[in-house]
Amino acid sequence: MDKELKVKKIRDGTVIDHLNAGTALTVLKIIGLPKTTIAIAMNVPSKKKGKKDVVKVENKFLDIEELNKIAVISPNATINIIKNYEVIEKRKVSLPDRISQIIKCANPTCISNIDEDAIPEFKVESRDPLKLRCIYCERILYGEDVKDVL
Ligand code: CTP
Ligand code: ZN
Repeated sequence: MDKELKVKKIRDGTVIDHLNAGTALTVLKIIGLPKTTIAIAMNVPSKKKGKKDVVKVENKFLDIEELNKIAVISPNATINIIKNYEVIEKRKVSLPDRISQIIKCANPTCISNIDEDAIPEFKVESRDPLKLRCIYCERILYGEDVKDVL
């Protein structure tokens, strides 16, 4: 008996799996809406724990900036590269100790929002739950708020 929700396999492209439940639409915001076939599954039961989202994109391979952004919203995501229907590469995204450029500080008076030469940068204070600190104004940014400053 198969109770799993089946989404068609893809021939070539990327399957972003084990996304935190509810983050799939933010992933689309990060990678942009492709013209190729995409499939999104949200709140599907995960073998590991609880629920997850999955995004499958045909004929698209993510760059490092996209991967880093996904790591910020979903530190346990798995990136599967598919070629000719086979998973040829599987790896976890990884969150560096410092995150620069990819998210903005939520403090409107922070120098990083005023001076073009001050590149936004955060120190990762905690990974689970995600807690970041702006290196300029020290404002804390929590994981659930990251989607608003991407
Ligand atoms: N997948 C796909 N199209 C393919 C091959 C795989 O859409 N041609 C999807 C699978 O449906 C799955 C993901 O890519 O969601 C990873 O595939 P696989 O490694 O075979 O699955 P699992 O072993 O369950 O992955 P994990 O151990 O990472 O949970
Ligand atoms: Zn700041």
